[in-house]
Amino acid sequence: MRMTDDLILAAKAVRENAHAPYSRFKVGAAVRTGSGKIFAGCNVENVAYPEGTCAEAGAIAAMCAHGEYDIVEVAVIAGSPDPVPPCGGCRQKLAEFAASSTPVTMATVDGGQMTTTVGELLPGAFTTDHLNSGAQ
Ligand code: THU
Repeated sequence: MRMTDDLILAAKAVRENAHAPYSRFKVGAAVRTGSGKIFAGCNVENVAYPEGTCAEAGAIAAMCAHGEYDIVEVAVIAGSPDPVPPCGGCRQKLAEFAASSTPVTMATVDGGQMTTTVGELLPGAFTTDHLNSGAQ
């Protein structure tokens, strides 16, 4: 089994627990940290639609709750025919904890896969350099 496969399996398993009664679009995400641990999360929708959260946000919250803050690999899985890319907000959330070279594998439950990087998903990211250079 490749390294990435365990991450995809974790994302696939947690996807089963997604709360997606409105979109019916279940997503699972898993992040591997520098220590080698895996943290997973699923999307959690709400009847007040904007209050829903993405799978990536859940995985990141689980990681931080455990006291870890460095992501070295990401996997996202959904039931769509083509691999689903993280939404814009989740790209920024991943960039907070990952290097631009960090691999992101997007998978489908049918076995499709596509791998990119955090930097390719979010070119020109807003970083602490921008923040600090404008602080008054
Ligand atoms: N969703 C995620 O959880 N992650 C993504 O990367 C794309 C979209 C969720 C949000 C919402 O619950 C559902 O998919 C449909 O947009």
